Order: sequence, then structure tokens, then C-alpha cells
Amino acid sequence: MDVYNFPYQHYLKNELPEEMQKLADAATAATELAYAPYSKFKVGASVLMSDGTILSGANQENASYPIGVCAERAVLAGIHVSEDYKVKAIAVTFTSDAPVGDNPIAPCGMCRQSILEMQHRQDSPIAIYMCGPGGKVIMIEDAEFLLPFSFGSKDLPSFKPQV
Ligand code: THU
Repeated sequence: MDVYNFPYQHYLKNELPEEMQKLADAATAATELAYAPYSKFKVGASVLMSDGTILSGANQENASYPIGVCAERAVLAGIHVSEDYKVKAIAVTFTSDAPVGDNPIAPCGMCRQSILEMQHRQDSPIAIYMCGPGGKVIMIEDAEFLLPFSFGSKDLPSFKPQV
């Protein structure tokens, strides 16, 4: 039997390099952009681009529930990657009025697919910083690790890279 393993690291936010603390702080600030009147669960996601730019997004819910967009896909939707403009890392966190604890939040399955597509598009790894509101962080250095046996462009004969 084959076994799937992948590396990840636990941190406290203040142990991260300054650039990554800034990224985690941006994700926390982005929770204020959330429109989450149904779940009351405000998610913020921020990406660090290869030129040092930080971009942010937040979950946007809808009375027709499946229409809602997660924070990770909200931020990724505004990015066009190229040879010299790539996503280096994404940080995600949340705030909630409910007592939900301090555990880092992980991207949902649909967002894992989207992050991985972006990684394949730019052909370089995206690190994922999963953050809790009290400072706990789990870091995974490659989006591939979070979605083993993924479906992707390799499976679609009609795929042609877009330039
Ligand atoms: N949500 C995100 O924005 N990102 C995730 O990775 C997990 C879930 C949002 C979707 C919904 O608006 C709320 O959190 C509760 O599920």
C-alpha cells in the first residue's frame, strides 16, 4: 500500500519572517471586507506577489447560498500571473463572533483546486499560510501537497496554455 505524506510546519505568527507576518496581518485586515451575514464567519485571504505586492480578498456570501465566493478565490480572481509576476504565498484567516476557537483555517476543497490551478499556470509553487485568529499558523510550502491526485489541465486534451 502506498502512503501519502507531506511536510508542513507549525508556527506562531510572531516567529514568521517579517514579510510573512505582514501577509498574515493583511489577511486579518481583509476579514473586514467580508460580506458574511449568513455564516457570520468572516474570512480574509491575502497573497504575496513576487514583486512584493500584497493583494487581499474576503468571502462574499449570497442569499442563494451556493453563489457565495470564498476569500481565496475572491483574491485570486483579480490576478493575472506572468513570468515576472507570480503568486509566492497566500495567507488565510478568519474572525467570527461565535466561539470557534483559535485553530488555523484551511482552504476548502474548491479553493485548493483554484490555488493549485494558479500554481500550475505560473509554474512555481505557492506557499499556503493557514492562520488562526490568535496567532497559530500552519505553513505548507507547495499547494500540490494539499490536493493529492488532483484533476487538472493534464487530464484535458483540449488544454492549451494561455499566454
Ligand atoms: N470560506 C472561505 O471564504 N474560505 C474557506 O477556505 C472556507 C470557507 C467561507 C465560505 C462561507 O462564506 C463561510 O466561510 C462559511 O463557510
